[in-house]
Amino acid sequence: MEGYTALSPEKLHADPIKAIGSDWMLITAKKKDGTINTMTASWGGMGVLWNRPVAFVFIRPQRYTLEFTEEAEDFSLSFFEESCRPALTLCGRKSGREGDKIAEAGLISADFEGVPSFLQAKRVLKVKKLYKDVLKPEGFLDPSIDEKNYPAKDYHIVYICQILKGFEKEA
Ligand SMILES: Cc1cc2nc3c(=O)[nH]c(=O)nc-3n(C[C@H](O)[C@H](O)[C@H](O)COP(=O)(O)O)c2cc1C
Repeated sequence: MEGYTALSPEKLHADPIKAIGSDWMLITAKKKDGTINTMTASWGGMGVLWNRPVAFVFIRPQRYTLEFTEEAEDFSLSFFEESCRPALTLCGRKSGREGDKIAEAGLISADFEGVPSFLQAKRVLKVKKLYKDVLKPEGFLDPSIDEKNYPAKDYHIVYICQILKGFEKEA
């Protein structure tokens, strides 16, 4: 990808608690018909599982993005400078079902070796779905988490994904 340095996952240094929890990320996926959608996410993580570098994301069933991550084998997780916070706020408030929020946010989409992301991203991770599950009410050992976060019983779908490659924007 022009303007980006490709990095193997082992060379990526990330603080997932800050990068995801405070700075937020966009989850972006492409359907087989070529259309793309994106949503802001601040829940998730990164680590190691099955001897692979992994990222895990949590998507509620009503998100339009879920239709896209369901169709795609690979998708992207994208990270941005603080100046893009308004774009991420918009992508976390509006649904792609309501119109072209990508254009409205001023984001310019681009193909990163088969996955969609945006030219404003400072870092893009290409990830591949390895495992999918739905959080279950009986799984909560602290019931207050269920009560607080799932009054509508819209339990998150979790994907555990292998981080295939990273792209770092060149200075
Ligand atoms: C800061 C922030 C973090 C969010 N994190 C998540 C998340 O981790 N999982 C999720 O399902 N929704 C999350 N959302 C909500 C979605 O981004 C939001 O519902 C979005 O409009 C979905 O768009 P879509 O319908 O086009 O997929 C978050 C929203 C914001 C503003």
